[in-house]
Amino acid sequence: MDSETNPPHSPLISRKTVLRAALAAGAAVPVVMTGAPALARTFATSNSSDTSPTEVPLTPPCDDGDDPTPSQMEGPYFKPNSPQRTSLAGPGVPGTRLTVTGYVFGLACRPIAGALLDFWQADHNGAYDNTGFRFRGHQFTASNGSFALTTIVPGLYPGRTRHIHVKVQAPGRPVLTTQLYFPNEPRNNTDALFDPRLLMAVRDGGGGREASFDFVLNVPQGPGGPGPGDTTWTVGTTYQPGARVTYSGRPYVCLQTHTAQSGWEPPNVPALWQPA
Ligand SMILES: [Fe+2]
Repeated sequence: MDSETNPPHSPLISRKTVLRAALAAGAAVPVVMTGAPALARTFATSNSSDTSPTEVPLTPPCDDGDDPTPSQMEGPYFKPNSPQRTSLAGPGVPGTRLTVTGYVFGLACRPIAGALLDFWQADHNGAYDNTGFRFRGHQFTASNGSFALTTIVPGLYPGRTRHIHVKVQAPGRPVLTTQLYFPNEPRNNTDALFDPRLLMAVRDGGGGREASFDFVLNVPQGPGGPGPGDTTWTVGTTYQPGARVTYSGRPYVCLQTHTAQSGWEPPNVPALWQPA
């Protein structure tokens, strides 16, 4: 199994962890502009009372060998066409509140805007909604590659440890199907699918739990400027005629004022975008 062949180092102290903290601290521009950011991890423990910045070793370079996020089986409960939403649990939904935040990166550590994340999970009793779309929803990363999910801690069901399913896809790229896990779960040791590389960093906070995880997609990115898989086009952005974007590494110029939305990707709408 994968878990038996992993290196023994903690997956939580990695380039990805450092990068996400730097982005959260407002260092996203240097990441994008120079590719050689000065990074500082602002928290490293699950102790919610520790709010002081933590000393961090020298920043690892972006090419420190971190692999793309591993894939995992889809399982039997995926349903297509989930609603677009960032919250899967309203105020009355039972369960421990959970937020999951993070970033989607490409292979060169640059954030990927407009990446699709489709989450599905069990309710607090460990049951999936296979008739409707409870605890199912998709969203897109912001222009800085970030995402935020509001939900509850999923319940346990027979044969598995606690987990959240997700599909992640950079615009125009293959889908990564995987699962996210919680640290310190007794069943992590007995679940054959569990992979420590997919552990979220989780701490108490926000009236429940706060988790973070950064995805690294197998999307090539050049050392500077748009790479083969790069996309600057972003859902929610209003573009004016003449605006220039990159989509999957190809440049486009805007023809009409509009606000970008899913389904209106530049290659799909020649009335709005023309190859530059
Ligand atoms: Fe599951």
